[in-house]
Amino acid sequence: MKRIEALSKHTKGIHTLLDIGTDHGYLLIDALHHGYIKKGIAADINLLPLKNAEKNIKAAGLDHLVEFKLSDGFLQIDIDYDGVLIAGMGMHLVKSILLQPHKRPLKYIVSVHTHIDQFRAFLSESGFMIIDETVVFERFYYVIFTLIHKQDTLSEKDIYLGPLLQHKKEAVPYYRHLLSINEKIMEVAPVKKRKLLEIQNNWLQDTINRFI
Ligand SMILES: C[S@@+](CC[C@H](N)C(=O)[O-])C[C@H]1O[C@@H](n2cnc3c(N)ncnc32)[C@H](O)[C@@H]1O
Repeated sequence: MKRIEALSKHTKGIHTLLDIGTDHGYLLIDALHHGYIKKGIAADINLLPLKNAEKNIKAAGLDHLVEFKLSDGFLQIDIDYDGVLIAGMGMHLVKSILLQPHKRPLKYIVSVHTHIDQFRAFLSESGFMIIDETVVFERFYYVIFTLIHKQDTLSEKDIYLGPLLQHKKEAVPYYRHLLSINEKIMEVAPVKKRKLLEIQNNWLQDTINRFI
């Protein structure tokens, strides 16, 4: 539950949280239990997970605070919200949801399971600014972004390391993990790819060195 708890903490201050792809509903249960949010909208494209969320939220005695919506991303959402959470999905799916027309919330909490650097590049090109980045480990590393709508152009280095994450000591084990993956890929990579990996490894090593 470390990942859910970390995501939930980032919802502090939101009144009504729209949880897209709610599945089990655990995120809303945790955020409501802690009083981080006042209300929730549990949304999912599939009926089975939505029913699952409803069952769990009812069992937690919180169903009077949550509305349930069958929706593809934002498309069928007709209730007001001021915060959005999208977690537990791949980068391409999250990108397509963020590009759907929708009412802009005060903030988005987003965690993608794949292609973190490509996702940062997308954010930079699409008018989303990263205002916080954290990393949590629960069998895998998960990067959690807090976003607002604002233009922010990131450098190649910021896209790879994260504009804010690179200044956090807590990210050192994650960067070591990336370094070890890169070193394995390097053994079999073609020359052009190896050059890029060398640049990335220097960024990683410099960042790690700053904290030791
Ligand atoms: C792996 S679960 C993630 C559950 C939870 N958000 C978490 O982080 O633990 C992904 C959920 O997203 C839902 N989903 C997939 N595409 C979606 C979309 N376009 N709109 C809303 N929900 C979607 C799936 O039905 C599934 O319940």
